[in-house]
Amino acid sequence: MAVNILLGLQWGDEGKGKIVDYLAPQYQVVARFQGGPNAGHTLEFDGIKHVLHQIPSGIFRSNIKNIIGNGLVIDPIVFKKEIDSLSSFQINIKENLFISKKAHLILPTHRLLDQAYEKVKGDKKIGSTLRGIGPTYQNKIGRLGLRVGDLETDKFQEKYQALLKEHHHLLKYLDFEYDDVQANKEFLAAVEFLRSLNLADTEYMLNDSLQAKESILAEGAQGSMLDIDFGSYPYVTSSNTIVAGALTGLGIAPQHIKEVFGIFKAYCTRVGEGPFPTELHDEQGEELRKIGREFGATTGRPRRCGWLDLPALKYATMLNGVTQLLMMKADVLNDFEEIKICTHYQMPDGSLTDRLPFCLNDIKVKPVYQSFKGWQTSLQGMREFDELPKELIEYISFIEDAVKVPITLVSTGPDRTETVLKKEIAIK
Ligand code: GDP
Ligand code: IMO
Ligand code: MG
Repeated sequence: MAVNILLGLQWGDEGKGKIVDYLAPQYQVVARFQGGPNAGHTLEFDGIKHVLHQIPSGIFRSNIKNIIGNGLVIDPIVFKKEIDSLSSFQINIKENLFISKKAHLILPTHRLLDQAYEKVKGDKKIGSTLRGIGPTYQNKIGRLGLRVGDLETDKFQEKYQALLKEHHHLLKYLDFEYDDVQANKEFLAAVEFLRSLNLADTEYMLNDSLQAKESILAEGAQGSMLDIDFGSYPYVTSSNTIVAGALTGLGIAPQHIKEVFGIFKAYCTRVGEGPFPTELHDEQGEELRKIGREFGATTGRPRRCGWLDLPALKYATMLNGVTQLLMMKADVLNDFEEIKICTHYQMPDGSLTDRLPFCLNDIKVKPVYQSFKGWQTSLQGMREFDELPKELIEYISFIEDAVKVPITLVSTGPDRTETVLKKEIAIK
């Protein structure tokens, strides 16, 4: 039937995992299209909290095919741990999980290289998750990479050894001390495990699903402001996190796309280095971090917090052709007397713009804010749009008017059930 795409519009951690899990029962297939174990997607239901890194967030729903697309980079060691952590749930991995043969493998030496490059950069470091993402995509683009499908050929050892040799060379050149003996053993054991799973030509699976009139939900990782082309380069991740990445990362043609769900927090966070115009360095930033529990789901690092950035949100909406906006973590703002939205940036020459300058690293902008009255009430138990406090409705309307896309879902807590849908707009 169609592909709907759900992706983050900010700097990641918008709440993608929660909403993919929430929407999944309306689909036959959920497919991740880029990134890898740098992602941490949190799901909460029935008193359980679970963080997924490489496995799609439809995995807890029955009768759904979960596909790991060709656009991902997969760490087999992390993957094995992830599957083990699902063992207490009744999930039929054999029936419900499929991995693209064209996805690339992260070696332990990719992780070491990630560390080595960060070390060399010194105070210019990216603040990467150190999961080996950059070096693995580098090898993919450089046409040296090792792919999941190689596991099924008799060329695997040869290709693996060649890549390992190249990495050892580089690590030596970068003057990085390491001992990878144990990790390499673990890697080889983990790839054996991976080989026992469903390795598939997922581009055919997905297109066959479309032919069979099935619906697909494509799950993004990271966020548009971390996109390799359009994010605040070089402080970005190494994949296309925007809608285009879903096409190349799954092997689906554009005419199949129906809805693009753009997900954003009612404020902003960022983890790692790089420009963040609305970052708050005061106690309000501290409050957002404390109330929002803003600590990385993958690395545990404190997330930087700030007010909603409309120029960035508009930019991400434009790049992705967002058809519906989903606003997360509204409840985190419950106790604020005053809430701010950055509507424009003031450029160094004093002029105002609502467009992103070429490079936020070198061009220092000052956020221009509009103030809103806080709702100062709990949103607990609210399930209908018209139950929401009028100040929150005003906040929502302001964003809708500015971005020119409707907000059709408001999230009021981490649990699956803490979700408010706008009735007149169907989510699928
Ligand atoms: P993802 O990477 O986009 O899937 O997001 P993360 O899981 O990294 O971070 C989102 C965090 O916010 C997780 O801890 C979620 O459990 C939590 N969360 C999601 N939606 C809400 C919400 O509406 N309110 C609150 N308070 N927490 C939420
Ligand atoms: P999810 O899918 C937030 C950030 C890192 C770093 C930059 C590059 O959970 O939203 P990388 O390891 O990819 O080379 O790091 O990108 N980053 C994320 N920030 N959420 C994520 O994923 C992220 N994945 C990477 O902190 O600044
Ligand atoms: Mg996350």
